[in-house]
Amino acid sequence: MSEPRVNGLRGVELAVYDLNSSVDFYSKNWGLSEVSRSGGRVYLRATGEEHHIVTLHERPKAGLVAVNMAAADRAAVDALHGKAKGLGVEIIAAPASLPAEGGGGYGFDMRTPEGHLLRISSDVARHADTIADPTRPVRANHVVFNSPDIHNQMQFFLDTLGFQFSDFSGHMHFIRCSRNHHSVAIAKAAGAGLNHIAFEMKDYDGLMRGVGRMRMADEEVGWGVGRHAGPGRNIFSYFVDPNGYAIEYTTDVDQAGDDYVSRREDYWSNLPLRPCAWAGAKMAPTPRMRDAMAGKLIEERNQTCDDVISEKMAG
Ligand SMILES: [Fe+2]
Repeated sequence: MSEPRVNGLRGVELAVYDLNSSVDFYSKNWGLSEVSRSGGRVYLRATGEEHHIVTLHERPKAGLVAVNMAAADRAAVDALHGKAKGLGVEIIAAPASLPAEGGGGYGFDMRTPEGHLLRISSDVARHADTIADPTRPVRANHVVFNSPDIHNQMQFFLDTLGFQFSDFSGHMHFIRCSRNHHSVAIAKAAGAGLNHIAFEMKDYDGLMRGVGRMRMADEEVGWGVGRHAGPGRNIFSYFVDPNGYAIEYTTDVDQAGDDYVSRREDYWSNLPLRPCAWAGAKMAPTPRMRDAMAGKLIEERNQTCDDVISEKMAG
C-alpha cells in the first residue's frame, strides 16, 4: 500500500462562550445551517455534501477544540493511526465509531506537537441535498495555524498525514492534501494557536453577496475584499466572529496537481502589489483583525472571563 494520507479538510470544532448567540451568528449572518445538536454541541453544515463543517461546543473559555480531516476509507484511517503511533505522535483516541449526531463514521484523534487536536475520519454521512445558494459557504477551504516553529510543524503534517508542500511565502508554509492549493497553512507567530478558518464560496459574486449579508448585519469587514498577491492567489474577505475567531470567505483558490511548481519567498516576495493584487498595501487588515489572527482577542476575553469566575468564587 502507498503511504497513507488524508484527502481533505472536513472542518473545525470551536469552543464558544454563548452557544445560542454563536449558532445565530454562524447561521443567520455567516450562512451555515444547523444539522443537529447534542449536549452543548451544535453541528453546522455548509451548502455542500459534507455532513457538518463547524461544530460549536459551549465552554467557559473559547479556543480551537479540533480540526477534522478526511481519509478515503477505514483502511486509510487505520493506516494513518498506525503510522502516527509508529512516529510517536500522541494518540488521544484509537480508531472507533464516531457519534451518530455528527454523521457517524470511523476515526481517531491525535495531537500535533503544538497540542492541536486532529480528528481523522472516514465514512461520515454526506448530504444528498446540496443547497443551491451561492451566497453561503460551500465547504471549509483551509485552516491556518500560528506557530513559533513553522518548519517543524509543517514537517509534521507532511510526515504523519501525507500532506504535500505547495509554497512558502517567507511568513507562511502552505500545504495541501488534495488539489486545493492549501488545506492547511502555518504562519510565523510568537505562540501556537489558530490564525483563521477559511470558508469557500462558489464564486466571486457569491462571495460579494455573502459579504453584503454580513455588512447588513452590521458585521465589519476586517480585511478585504481583496485578492492575495501570494500563495493560493485567492480572493478573500476576513471577519471576526463573536468569540474573537478570525474567519474568511474565500473563492478562486489555486488548484494544484502533481505538476504544481512550488515556490519560495524569493519568488513571492518579489511580486508587485503585495499583499493584495488589487490594492497593494492599501488593502491591509484592521488592527482588530490583526489581533484576531494573532489569537489575542480570544486570549484577552478568556482572561476577562477568568476574572469574573475568580471574583464569583471569592464573593
Ligand atoms: Fe486564508
